[in-house]
Amino acid sequence: MVTRLNVILTLFLLVAAFSCKQSTHSAKQPSYSIDSLIMEHLLPDSTAFADTVDGKEVRIYYLENHRGMAVAITNYGGRIVSLVVPDSSGQPADVVLGYPSIKDYLSDSSTYLGALIGRYGNRIAKGRFTLNGKTYQLYINNPPNSLHGGHHGFDSKVWEARQPSDSVLELTYVSPDGEENYPGTLTVQVTYTVTDSNALEISYRATTDKPTVLNLTNHAYFNLSGEGYPSIGNTVLQLLADHYTPIDSTLIPTGEIAPVAGTPLDFTKPMPIGQRIDSPFIQLQYGHGYDHNFVLNKPAPDSLSLAAVAYSPVTGIEMKVYTTQPGVQFYSGNFLDGSHKGLAGKPYVRRSAFCLETQHFPDSPNHPNFPSTLLNPGEIFTSQTIYAFGIHQ
Ligand code: BGC
Repeated sequence: MVTRLNVILTLFLLVAAFSCKQSTHSAKQPSYSIDSLIMEHLLPDSTAFADTVDGKEVRIYYLENHRGMAVAITNYGGRIVSLVVPDSSGQPADVVLGYPSIKDYLSDSSTYLGALIGRYGNRIAKGRFTLNGKTYQLYINNPPNSLHGGHHGFDSKVWEARQPSDSVLELTYVSPDGEENYPGTLTVQVTYTVTDSNALEISYRATTDKPTVLNLTNHAYFNLSGEGYPSIGNTVLQLLADHYTPIDSTLIPTGEIAPVAGTPLDFTKPMPIGQRIDSPFIQLQYGHGYDHNFVLNKPAPDSLSLAAVAYSPVTGIEMKVYTTQPGVQFYSGNFLDGSHKGLAGKPYVRRSAFCLETQHFPDSPNHPNFPSTLLNPGEIFTSQTIYAFGIHQ
């Protein structure tokens, strides 16, 4: 009798424990789906991205996990179009800037919204560098300099895409020898992965058949208060960088590696982005706000380390950025001008988003004291960046 009672009691407790676990678990499940996010304009509609560009098929890919994160990426420029994570009340928020259709991307050649950048992220002075005694002249698309790969950088290429699972997208682009006047056939693979811990991991791999230079990054514009929220002024940012590379009036590094201490570029402690952005500091005037490469404090070169932490007091959403790269370009969206509208129909006004472009330093081929951006045949370039999301505690 006692044994039977025990068995019944144990069974009851097991059932109770199981249903309790189930309900806790299901409480954490997002109550939204890709389809509902499309309806709410938090993810783009696939039909608005179905197109042919340069004779190649363009489309949108949706990546998701089971924890409420969904990311839309198009193989046109490998661009992140939207990135949805839960806010502090469990509601979905799109925290990157993105356009509703491929046509919008094709008609904007200057903001690089969400794009993969190459061959060379950021500026090369006067578009010129010398490698093994030969001088290469690049296209000057940001006078007097070359910016983000020149006339038709990787942001405007149609990448080969393969989606091996719901959470992974593999993109490949083979840049022919001499494209944009860069030497060597460069084969680039970028893998986007949405992890179960609500992170977007970006892995880069590149090989060449001739010595060349490269600097690959992603140009996502974040607004942790939600895409279309008019300002990032109250977003709190911390950068794990004691130094930065000062620029001249054309935004080219002077070559100096200067301490941030005592300047409005000191984000070593969390600080609202807007607090000092208009200070009378010449570097901020050159950048029209923040547009600087920060030299990351690295425990060891090429190690995956925390680069930045940012959060929005509006949504509570926090983003941590980890990277193997030596630098990060913190750009405060100074050149957004409200002329483009995003997925939810709101204009993207000045300083309504920020970029944290993990990278090698701008103009490195002209600064031997900067970490090298040279890639030789037989070498494999790899790098990894993780944008991890949670709620600020
Ligand atoms: C650069 C800015 C530039 C922007 C292009 C950033 O990476 O640092 O100067 O205006 O990209 O939209």
